[in-house]
Amino acid sequence: MSQVEETLGGLRIIKAFLAEKKMSSRFNSITSSMRDKNTKVAVRQSLAHPVSEFMGSVMIAIVLWFGSTQILSDTCSIDAPAFMTYIAILYSVIQPIKDFARAAFGIPKGLASMDRIDAILKAGNPIVELEKPKPLESFESNIEFDCVSFSYDNGREVLHDISLTIPKGRTIAIVGASGAGKSTLVDLIPRFYDCCKGSIRIDGKDIRETSLKDLRSLMGNVNQDPILFNDTIFNNIAFGVKDATMESVVAAAKIANAHDFIIEKEEGYNTNIGDRGCKLSGGQRQRISIARAILKNPPILILDEATASLDTESERIVQEALDNLMHNRTTVAIAHRLSTIKGADEIIVMDEGRIVERGRHEQLIEFGGYYRKLHDMQAL
Ligand SMILES: Nc1ncnc2c1ncn2[C@@H]1O[C@H](COP(=O)(O)OP(=O)(O)OP(=O)(O)O)[C@@H](O)[C@H]1O
Ligand SMILES: [Mg+2]
Repeated sequence: MSQVEETLGGLRIIKAFLAEKKMSSRFNSITSSMRDKNTKVAVRQSLAHPVSEFMGSVMIAIVLWFGSTQILSDTCSIDAPAFMTYIAILYSVIQPIKDFARAAFGIPKGLASMDRIDAILKAGNPIVELEKPKPLESFESNIEFDCVSFSYDNGREVLHDISLTIPKGRTIAIVGASGAGKSTLVDLIPRFYDCCKGSIRIDGKDIRETSLKDLRSLMGNVNQDPILFNDTIFNNIAFGVKDATMESVVAAAKIANAHDFIIEKEEGYNTNIGDRGCKLSGGQRQRISIARAILKNPPILILDEATASLDTESERIVQEALDNLMHNRTTVAIAHRLSTIKGADEIIVMDEGRIVERGRHEQLIEFGGYYRKLHDMQAL
């Protein structure tokens, strides 16, 4: 099934790289090995029935022959009625014995399935909530990273000793090379992962001690690759909000600069956008996911390259919308294009999991380090 899904999902790439033959042969080899195994099982199963019937008949024949010779012989050790009773009992136990044999191959089959299902059902979630988590009803003062280090699956450390304070109402921008650990850093705030060393506190409360529901309801995310569902535009925007009205969804879409392209679709807000939003352009997907965050109206906003797939004009309009949204709100924004983060209250420059520079735009330009270099390159 995963092969089928992967092949259908990656059709575009397969065609573009002329890999049809390769994928066909991969698919053929998997289906033929599956067919061979199924045939083997089917052959054994269909053999099992005649063989057991035959053995049963042979056994009855032998018993009948032996019994009758006993009855008919002079040294009779058993009389006819007792033998008839014996045969009747024998007949009635043959079927249960056959059922036992059938169960004997059903059980390993069931065990094999159980192993796989168990692996999914019993998969542990490393993010555990305390039994009595502290409530976190509102966000009042700041988010604090205190000497946070992190590595995926106990591998190489991706973040080293990050200390950072994000006061309420401020906009913090994070820039840095690809793979520097920016997305990882912001993924730690909603507790998608737990940090390995140090702690993250919101209003002085360690996020590991707070309720996950409270924590995540304080935040709105716009991800680097927008995650949309095979559903209508309305439902995708209203995703995180209970009982959203059409008016509120339209208002959010207008702010995100998405309303115009949505009403141009045949069915407007009721248009289905296909698997993962494949019927929309990259920029349109991103605007839908911005509208989703706008509608949720959270006190903390996490924007990971939120405007990366927009053209300069739409970017400017969406940026204005985001600026309105960021007003009086705490925002952590990751951006490659420095024009979008010029106005941030603090810019954090990351390199290989460390904060290498920090300050306002003008200060960093004056400092003349990595940020200055980036800025000069982009000015071209
Ligand atoms: N799920 C994961 N498992 C293991 N390693 C990962 C995982 N996600 C990211 N990494 C590694 O962690 C490092 C930091 O990745 P991260 O996604 O935070 O980079 P980034 O700064 O957001 O880069 P970009 O600008 O390209 O988005 C990279 O070296 C990456 O290979
Ligand atoms: Mg990233």
